[in-house]
Amino acid sequence: MAQPQSFDLIFFGGTGDLALRKLLPALYHRHRDSKDTSGWRIIGVSRQALDTAGYLQLVDSSCREFIADKDYDEASWQAFARCVEYLQIDGTQAADYSKLSALLTDSTDRVRVFYLSTAASLFASICGNLAQAGLVTPLSRVVLEKPLGLDLQSATQINESVGAIFEERQIFRIDHYLGKETVQNLIALRFANSIFEPLWHRASVRDVQITLAEQVGVEGRGGYYDHYGALRDMVQNHALQLLCILAMEPPSNNNPDEIRDEKLKVLRALRPFTPDDVRSRTVRGQYRAGAIDGKAVVGYLEEEGIPESSTTETFVALRANLDNWRWARVPFYIRTGKRMQDRVSEIVINFRAVPHAILPGNDNDDVNRLVIRLQPDEGIKLFVLAKVPGADMRVRPVHLNLDFGQTFKARQWDAYERLLMDVIGGNLTLFMRRDELDAAWRWIDPIHAAWAAQAEAPRPYTAGTWGPTASSALIVRDGLSWREES
Ligand code: BG6
Repeated sequence: MAQPQSFDLIFFGGTGDLALRKLLPALYHRHRDSKDTSGWRIIGVSRQALDTAGYLQLVDSSCREFIADKDYDEASWQAFARCVEYLQIDGTQAADYSKLSALLTDSTDRVRVFYLSTAASLFASICGNLAQAGLVTPLSRVVLEKPLGLDLQSATQINESVGAIFEERQIFRIDHYLGKETVQNLIALRFANSIFEPLWHRASVRDVQITLAEQVGVEGRGGYYDHYGALRDMVQNHALQLLCILAMEPPSNNNPDEIRDEKLKVLRALRPFTPDDVRSRTVRGQYRAGAIDGKAVVGYLEEEGIPESSTTETFVALRANLDNWRWARVPFYIRTGKRMQDRVSEIVINFRAVPHAILPGNDNDDVNRLVIRLQPDEGIKLFVLAKVPGADMRVRPVHLNLDFGQTFKARQWDAYERLLMDVIGGNLTLFMRRDELDAAWRWIDPIHAAWAAQAEAPRPYTAGTWGPTASSALIVRDGLSWREES
């Protein structure tokens, strides 16, 4: 990637969790590893009464926690800290923006990034105030953190108000899953190799499983989470984006819009859910007290900030279908949940069994399988059947293992490192275009509506398990099972 030019990066929500845990540590890493950082300027903005020195203290302590010891050194930190400034601004107060104008007067010819890591309800007012203060230049970009709305209607309102100030080419809707190395590797796997494409369709693929399982609970974000739930927090964005990359047609080149056009076609091919489909093809769950790695944890309803009667789902499993030529009748199973047995994000592609088995052990379940592991231990495994040594001609699955950590000794970039550099470099490939977001909401909204109409509580599951038993039943009904080992 080209070395980013000189830039001003302004974080709204500069003292928030995301900025301190992810964005500033990511910038520290890129700063440390970049040759020329003379043109970098990072400005944290929030309502908190701090000066730059106080802000740096806060940033310093968070960096120490979120940067591995081996990557932290005092000289690099000091050099990075010299690029960071702070302004106390209330994003909703137009008058406060004069402070930002004063700081940026001399830099209209530099890339200017406004990163809105605030509640989406503030996006319109911040963008309006930026425009009114004359701060939006042709080289400006705005970064919008998810969740972008609660449904299509609210997402449309946000997009329209931001779109009134910024052109679509200036809007970077972030989904950090797209910044993960293995997700980009999926693009490489599919489009830089010739061996997979002939197999990548309904004639060879039996089913696809996408699992995004977390061991953490709501981590002090109860207020936010209870409003959104797993479907909106994880499926609408991360899981659907993975599905798009997995299922899209080969684009004719890697220009952002070529790729995003193909992803959009996948979203539009998703078969809409009727209320009956929602009943038979989705499962929602909510965790109860249990144990994670032997440590007792409370149930969702006992978490801080969660109303006792909450019916918000912390787990979703569903079966999606794509109504297009390539994927007709191939089920795509998606499941995601908090407080699950393991932390694992992976995509499993199960290929069809041989049409006629002649060897013992070659039953219909032991099929060839490609497992793309996003985390932890990023890598790709290809399961094949091989003969067990000995006199008998028996086969059993073994795997070819490509461990990215071992193969490429270099440190793995965090998703935000990649995405921030893409914003600064103006590369929109890994960001969601408005029509993609709209299509995703259009598919998600009826699921929510049907759940609300059914007025059934989510199914309970014990923390530290793989979710409600109905999740297994969902897939067993199709004669299949979730792959939980790899
Ligand atoms: C975020 C969700 O987008 O992704 C969180 O809001 C979730 O609820 C997180 O924990 C998971 O990200 P990762 O990178 O840890 O898999």
